[in-house]
Amino acid sequence: MLDLEKYLIQGNNRLEGEVKITGAKNSVLPILAATVISGEKSIISNIPNLKDVKVMTEILKTIGSKVKVEEHRMIIDTNGVNSIDLPEELVREMRSSIILMGALLTRFGEVNVSFPGGCEIGPRPIDLHLKALKQMGAEIKESHGFIHCKTEKLKGADIQLDYPSVGATENIMLAAVKAKGVTVIRNAAREPEIMDLEDYLNKSGAKIKGAGTSIITIEGVERLNGTNHKIIPDRIVAGTIMAGAVMTKGKIIIKDIITEHLQSTIAKLKETGANVIINGNSMMVIGPKNINAIEILQTLPFPGFPTDMQAQFMAMLSIGNGTSIINETVFENRFKHAEELSRMGANIKTFGKVSVVKGVKKLTGAKVYAKDLRGGAALVLAGLVAEGDTEIENIYHINRGYENLDETLRRLGAKISCI
Ligand code: UD1
Repeated sequence: MLDLEKYLIQGNNRLEGEVKITGAKNSVLPILAATVISGEKSIISNIPNLKDVKVMTEILKTIGSKVKVEEHRMIIDTNGVNSIDLPEELVREMRSSIILMGALLTRFGEVNVSFPGGCEIGPRPIDLHLKALKQMGAEIKESHGFIHCKTEKLKGADIQLDYPSVGATENIMLAAVKAKGVTVIRNAAREPEIMDLEDYLNKSGAKIKGAGTSIITIEGVERLNGTNHKIIPDRIVAGTIMAGAVMTKGKIIIKDIITEHLQSTIAKLKETGANVIINGNSMMVIGPKNINAIEILQTLPFPGFPTDMQAQFMAMLSIGNGTSIINETVFENRFKHAEELSRMGANIKTFGKVSVVKGVKKLTGAKVYAKDLRGGAALVLAGLVAEGDTEIENIYHINRGYENLDETLRRLGAKISCI
């Protein structure tokens, strides 16, 4: 999808002030999908105002849900859901809508979904999702770019994931909540968003244990009910603002966060020389005079350093003192921002999943292009510290995962506008 709006940033900013962090995108999407299972009314609060959330809401409406959207809150009644076909254009627009596969399979025992295909950060296959659903008794047919899943009754299974995929873990949880018997997911993803999904589902009457660890056990129940739930804060939005404080030698108080979810980001920020002071559910980040290089920054599944923070750290290390090595182990092709940062004067060489970032004294403003969500955020951070003006095109990607990023940064003193 094309978006003609751009960000214009006048460089040499220093960020200072307080920010409240919004609800987590990666939590709200699977939880909205999960509301389909009960066929009752759920009230979800702390919902961020994001493009991806709008797409998920559209999908829920298209298949028959009644959705009332209020400020950061949604009332979703899924009683009228009557379709097993996921609309192709919307699924193509947002890959994570694949999470509805598990939910609809549980509700109707059948689902048709178009193959999500690749995206900006690599091929992103769903083989682990499909293998697990087959183990649970789903018959899966793939033809002409569509996947058709059908089952008489899902049954519990002992599932060993080859990789702790976030999406596969969530899809299995959604398929298992009402399955016959017990499902065990081994080598499950341990991301905080999985815990949030467990929390929502258990409040709805599910019997799930172990989210947040690598073994999750789900005992199938007869029915789920609607419930109220508040989405956890977005650790990636928080991490992005923290990186902004460090890069601009600023001082920011970040509120309404769960600091435990941010430990790997905090540890790496400290390696740059930043001062991070934690106080309950808020923290203060004070940028260092000079940013130290990070010898090795390796992305890993949680609790390792998040791949969703890699681009922002690359922007930061591009003005670091010395050479940093970034090893992206989670996704195949997640360095597209390196090219754009280079247009701003960064010295970055990429070799497959490794990149070498030699810190430069300063970045210079340029016309750059957001190729994906986090890469786009990295360009915004780079623009804040660059000398001169930076124009960022294709900010549609940024709006997928940040609620009014420009406004948030302006409140912290940045010279950024949407044109
Ligand atoms: C989720 C997050 C995304 C984050 C990612 C990794 C959401 C909506 N998105 O994406 O922001 O970057 O976790 O933390 O929560 N893989 C397979 N086969 C599969 C599934 C995954 O090979 O069946 C591979 C992927 O190609 C990728 C890796 O596993 O290389 C991790 O993917 P996964 O954890 O599934 O990420 P998502 O759930 O898509």
